[in-house]
Amino acid sequence: MRIFVYPGSFDPVTNGHLDIINRASRICDKLIVLVSVNTAKTPAFTVDERLELLRLSVGKRDNIEITSFSGLLVDFMRKVNAKTIIKGLRAVSDFEYEMQMALLNHNLDNEIDTLFMMTSIQNSFLSSSAIRDLAKYGAKINDFVPAQIADIIIKKLKK
Ligand code: PNS
Repeated sequence: MRIFVYPGSFDPVTNGHLDIINRASRICDKLIVLVSVNTAKTPAFTVDERLELLRLSVGKRDNIEITSFSGLLVDFMRKVNAKTIIKGLRAVSDFEYEMQMALLNHNLDNEIDTLFMMTSIQNSFLSSSAIRDLAKYGAKINDFVPAQIADIIIKKLKK
């Protein structure tokens, strides 16, 4: 069984992430969306909130699982017997950081590879941090995140 793991902060999930989730889920048997801890960032939403926003956005799908993990990504991969990490790339600016992570993870476990998918052009300018900023100042975010989570995000972040 081909299991892909899509790790990220998802703080919060955006339409850009959902595009990758939808497209990646079509080329594997099972996609695990993994809310993982990025030690370089202080999240706006708790892990439980980020999981809930993902669940509300993705809905019930047979081959998609949504979960969290707080250790090394390669340890999670081994635990669930997955060999492929999937990541989205928006622009060249994402490349350096993503390449470093991909090489590091492959170095930690040479059975694990990272597959990159280009985001759709209409989502290429989206980021969780931009969504947080817009929400903070009460701007409309309905075009950038699923309708069912827009209000929850605004409620939590609006000053
Ligand atoms: O959405 P992000 O913040 O770019 O995601 C980064 C994330 C969470 C995938 C990355 O920080 C990660 O894999 N963290 C888990 C800890 C780990 O394995 N670190 C070593 C590889 S970078």
